Amino acid sequence: MSQSQRPRQDGWASRIGVILAVAGSAVGLGNFLRFPGNAAQNGGGAFMLPYFISLLVLGIPLCWAEWTMGRYGGRHGFNSSPGIFTAIWPHRAAKYFGAIALAIPLFIYMYYVQIEAWCLGYALNYLNGTLTDPASLRQTLQLAPTAEETKVFGEFFSRYVGSHEDGALFHPQGRSTLWVVVVAFLLNFALIYRGISKGIESFCKVAMPLMVFCALCVLVRVLTLDPPPGKPDQTVLAGLGFMWNPQPKKLLDPGTWLAAASQIFFSLSVGFGIIINYASYLKKDDDVALSGLTASSMNEFFEVCLGGLITIPAAFVFFGLALREYAGSTFNMGFIVLPNVFAQMPAGRFFGFLWFFMLFLAAITSSVSMLQPVIAFLEEGFGLRRHASATILGLITALGCGYVLYFSGETKALAEFDFWSGTLMIYVLALFQILLYGWVFGIQRGEQELHQGAHIRVPRVVQWNLKYVAPVFLLAIFGSFCWQSGKQQLVATWKDPVKFGSVLFMLVVFGFLLGMVHIAGRRWERQGKVKYE
Ligand code: ALA
Repeated sequence: MSQSQRPRQDGWASRIGVILAVAGSAVGLGNFLRFPGNAAQNGGGAFMLPYFISLLVLGIPLCWAEWTMGRYGGRHGFNSSPGIFTAIWPHRAAKYFGAIALAIPLFIYMYYVQIEAWCLGYALNYLNGTLTDPASLRQTLQLAPTAEETKVFGEFFSRYVGSHEDGALFHPQGRSTLWVVVVAFLLNFALIYRGISKGIESFCKVAMPLMVFCALCVLVRVLTLDPPPGKPDQTVLAGLGFMWNPQPKKLLDPGTWLAAASQIFFSLSVGFGIIINYASYLKKDDDVALSGLTASSMNEFFEVCLGGLITIPAAFVFFGLALREYAGSTFNMGFIVLPNVFAQMPAGRFFGFLWFFMLFLAAITSSVSMLQPVIAFLEEGFGLRRHASATILGLITALGCGYVLYFSGETKALAEFDFWSGTLMIYVLALFQILLYGWVFGIQRGEQELHQGAHIRVPRVVQWNLKYVAPVFLLAIFGSFCWQSGKQQLVATWKDPVKFGSVLFMLVVFGFLLGMVHIAGRRWERQGKVKYE
């Protein structure tokens, strides 16, 4: 292949850029919408015990393992998971596990970009004033003048996302949502098309500080809210108590531990196949130890300090204990309760816009990272140039998004994609990667590689943890997860055509990815890029 035909070699332009990109991938809707609901539902303050144990035993160590293996793979000429796994474990089977690391971000993208579009749509609806005035919204939606505010915002949400009926978004009333989804979808592809440094890195360098600014503005507004007239008990402090007062009994429930571990994986974007790809663009002596820790810490700041202090305390001020009805549901909290809160808050239109715009930024820095692993694979596995890889990926993701968009009733397809890819497959990949690092790559080699060019020393106990403790802990959680919800989920999927169709769709795409990985593997063999043991 002549130089001009080769796909251009991409990479990070600066250290801060890669940290912000990894943090951008991590900080997302999971931090602001999923975390508060999870904490409130799973024991409040008590949830933080399994949460921090999962962070220390699984999250941060696996994050370091991904950074380390990614940079190692990059040095051996691979940026995609199938290639990186083969570089670490020169066995024919290794590359097929890489297909899981391609499928997870791909499937998550298919529904995540839609929630991202709702955030953008809500931000625009604050700008044009639609969501600020429940009275006129009641009229527009043709609801009874006595309909409560929560019902008004609930109806708006249901129509906006088409959750009342399959195919609703393809009727003329659903067009505005469809357009916003198309815009969000294309924005992601425009960024990915520009590449690692010009697209992802440049965007994250602007988006991350902007997100902090928007979130801090909303936080200050929330923390200075006064209780509504006649309800002196509904203070912000009481709201914090509502969310954080520990319910120790919940610690005996395996579901709490499952929720905590899933939250850590989803939130840190660990076990997604993303960090390993991002790290592969680093140079041999670029630090990974401090960078990994910094990106994870940033994510925790966004999650616990911002996500944990905004939504539920703000909603408590206006709803009081009635909030119990909504606090466990991510979408109800984010898209029904909060708009109701902004409607009652002084300068609510401005803060509502800031909040949803911030959510949109958080989401897009994550969704764009979900496209990169497959782009990298298509270019590396087939020598494609960016326009070809982006077109193929665009077609596959458009099909998946179309499915989720069409079967919007009760957001069933979305929830099904989320369950299989955003929870179950993440456990599988995380387990594979932990075993790969601890038992194949080896913790001695891992420790050496992690400290190459490192700005901090990572205690040796982290390596022992990765080899012995993390796999057992993960297996225990995964096992109880399958035990608790496996059968129930399978029966539900089997009985419901939309859910069944979602799984079938994912299986077909996964089969396609396996085929592509197989062909790419043969190509790498012919090129002498891989030699199996
Ligand atoms: N880590 C991303 C989030 O929290 C996927 O939303």
